This record gives sequence, structure tokens and C-alpha cells, in this order.
Amino acid sequence: MDAFVIQGGTRLRGEVEINGSKNAALPILAASLLTDEECVIRGVPDLADVRHLCSLLESLGAKVWQDKDKALHIQVEEESHCLADYETVRRMRASICVLGPMLARRHRAAVSMPGGCAIGDRPINLHLRGLEALGAKLAMEGGNIFADGQHLEGKEIFLGGPFGSTVLGTANVMSAATLAQGETIIECAACEPEIVDLGNFLNAMGAHIHGHGTPRITIRGVESLSGADYTVIPDRIEAGTFMIAAAISNGELTLKHCRTEHLVAVIDCLNTIGVDVERAEGAVRIHSARRLHPVDITTQPYPGFPTDLQAQFMTLLCLADGNSMITEKIFPDRFMHTAELNRMGAQLRKEGPTVLVQGVKELIGAPVMASDLRASAALVLAGIVAQGETTVLRVYHIDRGYERIEEKLNRVGAKIERVDQP
Ligand code: EPZ
Repeated sequence: MDAFVIQGGTRLRGEVEINGSKNAALPILAASLLTDEECVIRGVPDLADVRHLCSLLESLGAKVWQDKDKALHIQVEEESHCLADYETVRRMRASICVLGPMLARRHRAAVSMPGGCAIGDRPINLHLRGLEALGAKLAMEGGNIFADGQHLEGKEIFLGGPFGSTVLGTANVMSAATLAQGETIIECAACEPEIVDLGNFLNAMGAHIHGHGTPRITIRGVESLSGADYTVIPDRIEAGTFMIAAAISNGELTLKHCRTEHLVAVIDCLNTIGVDVERAEGAVRIHSARRLHPVDITTQPYPGFPTDLQAQFMTLLCLADGNSMITEKIFPDRFMHTAELNRMGAQLRKEGPTVLVQGVKELIGAPVMASDLRASAALVLAGIVAQGETTVLRVYHIDRGYERIEEKLNRVGAKIERVDQP
């Protein structure tokens, strides 16, 4: 099992090219099940989660191949197999996003109920409520959801939950509604850029979707969808992670292939704590050369502060000049990283969904354990600036969402070695 051995005390300088978005690519790849024509998806990052979804599509009768420009080609050849089994879903929860497309196109689907998750409770009741509202008949057996969608019909659906909207829930219902009879209106829909990207892809396939990117999405069902050639958006969470890397190391980075309009809440917090962020067309320059101010942050659905950057920003605020409060409003238990950061000399105290971050002068290198994708990114950032050596164990978590992050960081001055840790 791989680990990272990091020599700390480095300042990052240089240019970084941001990859295509993992969280946009996954539901878009799943939506290719809505047609038997060839789909070409460009800019898809080479990640464990993407490879995992491609093998799921293959098990569901699709042929998946990559061309010399790294574009992914998907063509459904066989539609009899409709089960996304436990082995598949337990390794990646986002597998659930094949449910809506399969139901709409094959009129039946079976998906294993996702189990527990390191970042907290993640039910799918809203996905099921939305699909049932479209007319799907659902049954639960042996840990699997069996869905029958012979007659999907457009409806007005409220998709809000206790923590607001649901991203993949919106993706599933929006995809299913493209082939339903009549008009569907999704209220309290997720407004994330990844949902806009999926809506644009579905419209490129011939769907009639309006309002994606707002809380009210309208979908007028069509008879069938065709193939499409589409390029996914840049990864705003990867970009945010590198912005924080520049700030925490008092460095200077220019990020290329980055959409700053997707990161307004994050840039606002960086400005507030004293980091210079200069935007240019498709790029951004981040520069910091001083001890940073504290700030209070609350994670929210888009366009609020993203929960997927909470851990990384917490690491940054560990070194601020004063106390900050971080409140996690999307996944209230998403704090596996705090104990590990405290092992590196941070002063973090958790009270329910809030962590008090008392700023310290420096972090000290130590062996730490990654527990989930974004927590592992936070520990790598801590290792880059800590005094001495840090070992981050279980980096398979980080490979799920960052393509060879250690190579990208080493190119701008970090000292990270990937080692095989028995
Ligand atoms: C997506 O997960 C992302 N994953 C997550 O990123 C991200 O943290 C999350 O959205 C929030 O932004 C992908 O896009 C693959 P939700 P998703 O449904 O769609 C509750 C990463 O690091 N809820 O929007 O699964 C839920 O428990 C990953 O890349 C219900 O109650 O998240 C949570 O509290 C981690 N019932 C809140 O809503 C439901 O049926 C938001 O979850 C569904 C969700």
C-alpha cells in the first residue's frame, strides 16, 4: 500500500495545469447509458474513481475505450444486464449515478444500497423519492434496490433534504427525466457547476433541459437521445486545493485551465485572510508572503463554501494568526482529519459540527493516516509546510480524486516521495 514521505518547510512556486473535473465526469459517463450511440468524453482525469466507473459501465454492457488524445469513447452494445452490485458500489458511492440513466433507458435497474462512509451518513432517500415521483416502482431485497420504470412520467419534484439539495440525487433524477413522458420540474435542485455540466451534456445528446445551475430545473422528456462529443469542466476542487497549497507555503502559483467563477466563495475567504488572488482568462495567480488572518467558515451547497475544501482550508487556518471557527453544514461528521492534524501540533477542538482552530506558529512532521479523499489532501498540505518529515499512510484515498498529485507538487518545489508501505 502506497504512502507519501514528505520533507517539509518548502515554498511552492511555478505553474500547475488543472485537470478535468472528477465530479463532473462521473455522472456524465453514467449518462452515456441513456443511448446506444457512441459518446466521446474529453478532459476526463485518469483517476481510480473514473477507472472504476468505466469498469461498471462495461459490466452493464458498454464498450469503453480511450483514443490517442485520451478521450474516452463509450458505446452501449448490450442492455440486458442491469445490476450495479455491492462489490462495485461499496468501492465507490458515486456508482449510484447509473440508477437514473438505466431506469430511463432500460426501464429497470438494480443497484446495491451504498454502505457506511468515512465522511459521515450518506443516505440516498432523496434519489429514491425523486425516481418514485417519476413513477418508478422500487423494492428492496438483499441490500439491493430493484427499480421498475416501465412508465416514467414527468412531475414536479421537491428534492430538498435536511442539508439542502443533493448533487448526485439531482443528477439521477435529471437524467431519468430526459426520457420520461411530459415535463418534469425539479425544485431545490443542486446548483453545482457539475450539474450544469451534466445538463449541457444531456442537451448535447438531444435532451430539453432548462434552468440547470439554478434551484429550479425543467426537463421536457424526449423519445430518445443520441451520442455526443463533450469536454468536461476543469476540476474546481483540485484548483482550490492548489490555491490553498500556494497560500499555506507562502508561495506563488499560477493555475492554468481553471474556472475562477466556480470558486468565488473560496477566493473570497483567501482574500479575507490576506492572500493575493489575481484572476486572468482561464488562469489564476495566488501569492502569499505573510502570516495569515483567521476567518470563520461554514460549508454550504454551491455557490457557498464547498465541503470538499473544508479539510484543506482547516490545515491553512492552523497556521493563521488567531482563532477560526469551521462549521460543517453538509457532512456534520466530516472531521477525520482533525485528530491527525493535532498529531502534527495543530490546536483543533471539535464541538458537534464545529471545530475551533487555534492558530499555531508551525506544524511538526509526524506519521499520519489518510481516511478519505479530501482529508488526505489536507494532510499532504500539512506535510509540505511542517518542520521535518511527514509520512501520510493510505494514499490510495488521494489517488481517487487527484491525478499523480505528488508529481504536480514536486514540479513546483515540494519534496514528496511515493513509497510502498507494507
Ligand atoms: C457529491 O456527493 C460529491 N460527490 C461529493 O464530493 C460532495 O462532497 C457532495 O456532492 C456535496 O457537495 C460526487 O459528485 C461524486 P449530496 P453526493 O447528495 O451527491 C444528504 C469528493 O470529495 N443527502 O449532495 O453524494 C447527504 O447525506 C466527494 O469528491 C440525503 O440526506 O452528496 C449530505 O448530508 C465527497 N439524502 C447532503 O445531503 C439523499 O438522498 C449532501 O449530499 C442524498 C443526500
